[in-house]
Formats: sequence, structure tokens, C-alpha cells
Amino acid sequence: MSTPPSVYPVPEALAAQAAIGRGDYERLYDESVRDPDAFWARAAQRLQWMQVPTQIRDVSFALEDFRIRWYGDGELNASVNCLDRHLHTRGDKTAILWEGDDPATPPRHVSYRELHARVCRLANALRSLGVRKGDRVTIYLPMIVESAVAMLACARVGAVHTVVFGGFSPASIADRVADCGSKLIITADEGLRGGRRIPLKANVDAALKLPGTNSVETVLVVRHTGGAVGMQMPRDRWYDAVVDDQPDTCEPERMNAEDPLFILYTSGSTGKPKGVLHTTGGYLVFASYTHEAVFDLREDDVYWCTADVGWVTGHSYIVYGPLANGATSLMFEGVPNYPSVSRFWEVVDRHKVSIFYTAPTAIRALMRDGDAPVKSSSRASLRILGTVGEPINPEAWRWYHGVVGDGRCPVVDTWWQTETGGILIAPLPGAIDAKPGSATRPFFGVQPAIVDAQGTVLEGEAEGNLVILDSWPGQMRTVYGDHQRFIDTYFSAYPGSYFTGDGCRRDADGDYWITGRVDDVINVSGHRIGTAEVESALVSHPKVAEAAVVGFPHDIKGQGIYAYVTLVAGEEGTDALLKELVAHVRGEIGPIATPDHLQWAPGLPKTRSGKIMRRILRKIAENAPDQLGDTTTLADPSVVESLLRERRGAA
Ligand code: WT7
Repeated sequence: MSTPPSVYPVPEALAAQAAIGRGDYERLYDESVRDPDAFWARAAQRLQWMQVPTQIRDVSFALEDFRIRWYGDGELNASVNCLDRHLHTRGDKTAILWEGDDPATPPRHVSYRELHARVCRLANALRSLGVRKGDRVTIYLPMIVESAVAMLACARVGAVHTVVFGGFSPASIADRVADCGSKLIITADEGLRGGRRIPLKANVDAALKLPGTNSVETVLVVRHTGGAVGMQMPRDRWYDAVVDDQPDTCEPERMNAEDPLFILYTSGSTGKPKGVLHTTGGYLVFASYTHEAVFDLREDDVYWCTADVGWVTGHSYIVYGPLANGATSLMFEGVPNYPSVSRFWEVVDRHKVSIFYTAPTAIRALMRDGDAPVKSSSRASLRILGTVGEPINPEAWRWYHGVVGDGRCPVVDTWWQTETGGILIAPLPGAIDAKPGSATRPFFGVQPAIVDAQGTVLEGEAEGNLVILDSWPGQMRTVYGDHQRFIDTYFSAYPGSYFTGDGCRRDADGDYWITGRVDDVINVSGHRIGTAEVESALVSHPKVAEAAVVGFPHDIKGQGIYAYVTLVAGEEGTDALLKELVAHVRGEIGPIATPDHLQWAPGLPKTRSGKIMRRILRKIAENAPDQLGDTTTLADPSVVESLLRERRGAA
């Protein structure tokens, strides 16, 4: 067998046609870092401003003088940019193409004109319910058109939306509602995924019984499946009853570029999830510009990002980026393997999808079923393929490129984070040769660097921690309600730069390879889970004395969750208790945090000062007992022996 290529050059035809072709990248990148003010002033012209900004950037990462402001005197409304300004030229163009969970449900084509009207009706309804600029609104919806309508309606009235993924539990909803004090929740009777019903309204009811949620005055309920739900009057209102009779125009709020657009909660290495806050002007410039450039967007593209709107990918690359660009954005309610593992490709053929953006975990899962379920479809409409969420292994990359894309379509591996608002590192498809497993080059204005543990910036070929040296417009501005936590988390490890939490290698060509998280965050199927959160869920169970959670390599998920549990004295580690604890974590956080392995630990490896040595626990979970490294600082080395014995017994 010959070795597969390690470089996939830009296809010649694309290099000639793409808006950003060979050579353009170097020129534009150079300009963007040499004269960022001029570069980003020009980029801002892609939006429609109520007041065009004259101040472009006002940024310092230095701790004594910290500030991040973009387009500080500009005024705009995000919903106007995603809707109103397209009405003259694209009023009848499909804005959102909705494909239901069940292929027998007719797809819906929502034009820009219709979407505008629906957003205006909800925006008027929100105002009538007392929602004002700056108020927080929680959105807990399935993948239905109303989720985009809800986000844009909030943006129209200046309310700050906070979308909570439908897979989170009542306790997680309550934590998020309490943290930001939201006034109103928009939910649905039920969600539908792979034929299963998700009790969204019931979850909201349970959440609102928990402490700290008194700020919520109204719950708007979309009738989606028609399933029976309890309505508690006057708090709960049917969405259509409140919205349908509203006027279909609505005066947009004038927002300063630095006014908040949304909060999205994400896990860190410590404590509760943080409310990542994004503002309006810089975020929208960056989301729309990266969406256009990274996917080489054309007017007649049908663009499909398979993420859920509950994650930042859904915010930036299903709703805000594509709609600001006047694109057709496909929204899919279902899952990749329902009713069969050909579903993705059937949807591609049905709607002639030209740009397809998904996660490595989905690619790996589908790859297991072989080529036949892909080859039974045409996929001739596909032009560009993208991935996001975690490092993609070269085998999966090659399968995606060779089988899904028939070797015709460039694959863009896009590295970014909830915090970055948009893509920071990716190969622009008409300009940069791709390498399986590498996100390759920084986007315009983005200055990555690799540092060693002491913070020394490494030049040339290097491996270490990834930092970003200067600001970009889509950067988060604060942790909601805790600015100090923002600074401590991202700007104190390597003073003067933004620390990503990721490890990274730069090769001899200058291409970047993300190697994964270097902190206590686990990336499960492209979703971030904080080890501390799972640990605190476990110890909240009365029979658990102590818990330690680490990630371990998982064939499909990328990383799985491995939990070590010490029970309180007198309790026995039975199979029934194991099941109970796994269910307890699902109940506390949600199904995405389900531990894959739970091991009873009579004791945990600790230093003499009492710190748990996770490095050792990771190696035991990986089943690599010969790589434990230095164990001489352990308070009680016999603990490791017993964990290894137990691990062998279980394997
Ligand atoms: C973390 C951010 C960005 C939206 C989805 C996840 C990992 C993301 C890649 C990639 C290697 C990646 C990083 C990052 N990650 N994309 N293309 N290659 N790793 O957003 O939940 O904020 O997670 O996902 O570890 O730090 P998120």
C-alpha cells in the first residue's frame, strides 16, 4: 500500500475562482497585522450601521491597563443586518431551510421576508411582555425555526439571549437562569431527536422549582410536537397566542457596537460554567467575515452546519454569520443515524447542499458503517467540507475527503472556541493547501504563538501551549457578572496574551496542529465538559465521599469521561449503585456528561499536600500503567497499586 499524501493542494479550479485565492491570503494577512485599524475599518463596511464607527480598536491585554473594545462609537442592530437589509435583494431567497427529524415531515423554506416578519412579531410580543434592552432571555428550544427567530427577536429589542442546549438538565437550566437573572424563557412542549421525545417544557418546570430562579416572569411555549404539557397561568403562555396577532414590523433598538448580544455558558477547568459574553459589532463583523472567507461562500450556496444552536457553532455559523451574509442556512432537527446512517447524505441530495460543516465525532461514527451508506447517495452538489470541535484524526479526515467528498472537495478544519466567537485558524479553501489533522493558518488579524511552560514564545517548529498575542473583533468581552474571572482565566497564565487552554504544534511550513486541551476540560464529541462539574455532581450524591474525573481516548467521542469514586465509609460499590451514580450525573448536568467508566477507588492518589494527581489517574484510565511517571511525591503510593489492580480486574 502506498502512503497517502500528507498535503492536499488547493484544486486549481478553486484557486482561480475563489474570492480569496492563492497569494491573496499572504497579502491580506500581512495587511491585517501591519495596519489592523485600516483592515478592520474596511471589514466593518460589510455590515449596515446606524452610526458608522470611527473608532476601530481600543485594546490592551496588559493587566494594569486591560480593555477590549471594537468599533466603540458604532451603532447597529444585529437583526437588521441579518434580515432587513436583505429584503430588497433577497426577500424571496430562502434564509432558513428546515429539515425535520422525520424525513416524512415536509421540509420548510423560510424566506428572508417571512423570517423578518416572524422575528418582528416575536420582538413586538417580547416588548409587550416587558422585555427591554439589556434584559436577559433564556432560550431552551429544539432545532426548529423558532430558535433562530427567538435569537433574532432578542437582538431586535436589545435583549441579551442565552441559549441553553436542549440536552441540559433542569439543574443546569436553573444554574444558568440564576446566574444571569433572566426574565423570560422561550421553550417548546417537546423536542424530537432520532424519533425520541425530549420533555423540554417539563424540564423548564422542574428548573423553575429550584432556588434562584425567581427572576423568571414569563415562559413562552412553542407548540411543536403537540405533546401534553402542564401550563401554569399566568406564568406560562402559548407562543402562538402571544405572537400571532402582533404587527409584522418592529422598530429595531439602536445598539452600541459594544452592547451585549448574547451570553453562552461553557465549562472551564474550575467551578460552575462561565457565562461567555459576546457583544454586537465586532462579533457580527467577525462571524460574517469568517463564514464568507472560510467556506468561500457564493450567492447560490446551500450551506449546512450540523451543530445545535445551543452551542457557539450554531450561533456563529447557523444563525448570525450565514444570515448576515444573506446565505441559505439549513437547520436540521435530527441526528446523523436516524432513520438510517445515510441520513446526512440523503439530506445533502434532497436540498442540493453545497457546503457541509460537521464534527469529527460524527465523521468517525459514520465511518464505522463503511462506505456503502455514503455511496448510495450522489453528493454531486457538495463543494466544500468543514469540521470543527476537536482535533480530527488523519484517517477520519481522509475518509471525509475521499468518500464523502469523492476527493473533489477541500476540507476546512476550523479551530476556534466559544470564547473566540468565530474561526481563528483554518485553511482558506482557495488559498491554503490542506493537511489532514492540521487547522493550518491563522485567519486575518489573528496572531497565534506557541509558548513553553515559562511563557517564552517559541519560534519556528515548536510544540507548547497556544496563545493569541492580540485581539480580534469576535473575542469575548467578559465572563458575565465576574470580570475578574475573565482576566484570571485567560490573561494571567501568560501575561499580555490570551491563553486558549489548548496545546499546539507548529510544523516546518508554519502550519498549526492543535493537540487538545491542556487544562482540566474534557472534549466529549466536541462538547466541553469540566472535570470539576462532573466531580461536584458525583459528590452531591449522599453515598459519595470523594470523586476525581479525567478524560481518556475514545474511538468515537474523541475523549470519554472516566470517574474515580470513593464511597463514604460502610457503603459498598455494587452494580446498582454504579448505575445510580451515572443516572445521578445525567440528572445533575445532562446526558452529555454521562460517565463512560466509573471505577471504585478506595483512595485517590494525592500529594502530601493533598492535591489529587490527575496525571496518574489519566494514565490509569488510558490503561498505560508503564507511563505513570514520577510517583515519589505521592503521600501513599499503595493507592496507585490498588487502582491498577481494580482497573485490570474490570478490563
Ligand atoms: C475547544 C473549544 C469552536 C466551536 C466548537 C467547540 C477544541 C475546536 C477544533 C479543531 C482541534 C478543536 C479545542 C478548543 N477544538 N475546534 N478544529 N481542532 N481542536 O467550542 O466548546 O468552546 O470548545 O474545542 O480544544 O479549545 P468549545
